[in-house]
Amino acid sequence: MTCRMHDDAADFRTAVSRFPTGVTVIATSDGTKLAGMTANAIFSLSLNPPSIVVSLQNDAETTRLIGLTRKAAVSFLSSDQRQVSEIFSRRNSQTEKFRTVPWTEGNNGQPIIEGCISALEIDVQSMIPAADHQLVIANVTRIVNSSGLSPLIYYSSGYATVEPDGRLVLPPVKRDHSS
Ligand SMILES: Cc1cc2nc3c(=O)[nH]c(=O)nc-3n(C[C@H](O)[C@H](O)[C@H](O)COP(=O)(O)O)c2cc1C
Repeated sequence: MTCRMHDDAADFRTAVSRFPTGVTVIATSDGTKLAGMTANAIFSLSLNPPSIVVSLQNDAETTRLIGLTRKAAVSFLSSDQRQVSEIFSRRNSQTEKFRTVPWTEGNNGQPIIEGCISALEIDVQSMIPAADHQLVIANVTRIVNSSGLSPLIYYSSGYATVEPDGRLVLPPVKRDHSS
């Protein structure tokens, strides 16, 4: 198979959409205001100390509030939380997001989405500007793992579905002119 080189934004978007990921909601609270957004640009940085990196766009309300609180909770969504992902990826009011979706306060006072597969409470160590994003480097201060749930998977601009036998089925690959 030939891998043809293109440099426009659509081809780049197509290429990265072919990398399946889990889906999280990263959320923060300053005690008065809440902000949260869907994020899949996340990876574990180290086990010792347990730390993660999340890439957040500069112009998101959530990024701005995390810069102030320096704390957050990351909820790994379960396969039946597709709607949660959609709600938290909209640029609608934060009040609306947290009114629609059930959440609880973690030990660090940060919002954890109810029904998630796992959650991490984090302390932000640094925020490194990169392109139009911030690389948020954070230590994990508490881990919550539930059992018996499947992850929500994002792939090719869609979500995987769960078959009655529990198998996860990816959405079809979107073809474009360069494939
Ligand atoms: C599946 C999925 C994954 C996303 N991952 C990220 C991400 O990793 N980083 C990011 O900055 N935006 C990501 N977004 C977009 C944000 O969720 C979206 O811009 C959101 O409206 C920002 O929220 P806020 O401005 O209300 O804080 C993702 C959207 C979707 C649907």
